Amino acid sequence: MAKTIICSVANQKGGVGKTTITVMLSTLLRYENGKKILILDADFQRSIAQKRKKEIRQIMASEEQLILFSRNLGINYDELKGQSAKDMEDTLTKAIDKKIYTVIECDPKNVMDYIKAWYGKVDYIFIDVPGNIRQEGIVNLLQRTELIMIPMVASELDIDSTAHFIKILGKIKKVREENGLSMSILGVLNKKTNKKKNQFLVEAMSKNRGIMLDAMIPLRVAKYDDQMSTIYKSNDEYFKELKEEFIQKTEKLQLVAQ
Ligand SMILES: Nc1ncnc2c1ncn2[C@@H]1O[C@H](COP(=O)(O)OP(=O)(O)OP(=O)(O)O)[C@@H](O)[C@H]1O
Ligand SMILES: [Mg+2]
Repeated sequence: MAKTIICSVANQKGGVGKTTITVMLSTLLRYENGKKILILDADFQRSIAQKRKKEIRQIMASEEQLILFSRNLGINYDELKGQSAKDMEDTLTKAIDKKIYTVIECDPKNVMDYIKAWYGKVDYIFIDVPGNIRQEGIVNLLQRTELIMIPMVASELDIDSTAHFIKILGKIKKVREENGLSMSILGVLNKKTNKKKNQFLVEAMSKNRGIMLDAMIPLRVAKYDDQMSTIYKSNDEYFKELKEEFIQKTEKLQLVAQ
């Protein structure tokens, strides 16, 4: 296996789509490209870990789903049915972790331990990074990842905070480079209401040597809550485009490091 790419998904501004993008991208990379993924849910809200739990409980609540999943996951249905709810949840979680991807809840301070343990075993490790950069361990974590993806929303209220965050990352990138380490900063515009890129954010990215991706995610009236799944594949064309461009940009990183 090529080296593992570690990608922090971060922005100090909240509600910009960190969690949605981490999950949608991971699930698509798994299903469409057979990539092996690990998600480290380092955000204290535990949105991804909670979502995975909720999805497993939904499977457990439906006989039909249980039959389907036990078949797909290679679990004996009768044995599964005979288990207590707690054991059934554990069995399904383990099987889904293995087949799709594992989601681990962790403190930002412990992220590096998990990275060390999983390095070389998966293609990508995504980290859902908490927004507060003053929280212990966050800057250290950002300093130690070679790829940072910044979801951003071009609304008046979001823009300054995001530009400030991009500037901080520009400084971190410089420090890494002084130490002989590279760092790629990828920006993704989310909740777009038109096709035009926001010039202020584009400039902030270019000033700090980040790359604004061509792929953008439009603002959806129905939000992405229903589509976002840690188990099922989405057919959303915008996320597919984002995934393609993400692979293209990160495969280069894999080659450089080999
Ligand atoms: N393109 C979009 N169109 C409409 N709604 C979206 C879009 N992207 C994300 N959302 C919704 O916006 C909300 C915030 O998204 P999400 O939780 O992914 O952001 P976040 O950056 O992880 O937030 P937090 O700072 O709370 O961790 C969610 O309800 C999500 O479904
Ligand atoms: Mg989140």
